[in-house]
Amino acid sequence: MTKLVTFIGVLIAMSGVLFLTQYKSLPVSNERFSFENAKVEHETRLAELAELEAKRLAILNPVEEEIVEAAPVELVALTTPQLVNGHELYQKCIVCHGRAGEGRLSQNSPAIGGQHEWYIISSLKDMKEGRRVNAVMNPFLRPLNENDFKDLAAYISLLPWKGGVSK
Ligand code: HEC
Repeated sequence: MTKLVTFIGVLIAMSGVLFLTQYKSLPVSNERFSFENAKVEHETRLAELAELEAKRLAILNPVEEEIVEAAPVELVALTTPQLVNGHELYQKCIVCHGRAGEGRLSQNSPAIGGQHEWYIISSLKDMKEGRRVNAVMNPFLRPLNENDFKDLAAYISLLPWKGGVSK
């Protein structure tokens, strides 16, 4: 019995020693006391303070001069309600077809600026009604009706694209 107890005792002691040797090789981390971290934290605080101070000064001394926003240059004179609507609807098409309807090679989207109205309308109708398959454009056509197509075509046909390939 005593032998068994001694044996178990020795086992426990050995595993203790093993653990201790391992413990020594554990990496020492003193991140909490890192000078670098404290410095970064200090600098962040300083930046926050500077920002607050700038805001306080801005409130104390409001700038008198008026900020004039640059008016976007329109490519087409929006002289009729149809063109106004066409222009508004066309904003969603710009990602692929470009502001001037110049197309985008990277998107495989053709140039459409200056295209004949009838052709634009018939292309859009064909796509919407499934006679022409254009998976990428379909989600954009779903909310539009034939009147929207006419408005879009009126606008797009006036876009000043004059040829040349855009990337
Ligand atoms: C996600 C990109 C994408 C968007 C957004 C997009 N198009 Fe297209 N469009 C294409 C691609 C690609 C084609 C060529 C499809 C094909 O291979 O038939 C195309 C083709 C066309 C054509 C036919 C051109 C031709 O010469 O046959 C017209 C017209 C057109 N788009 C108008 C529009 C209008 C109007 C909108 C906005 C409502 C629009 N597209 C939005 C990608 C797009």
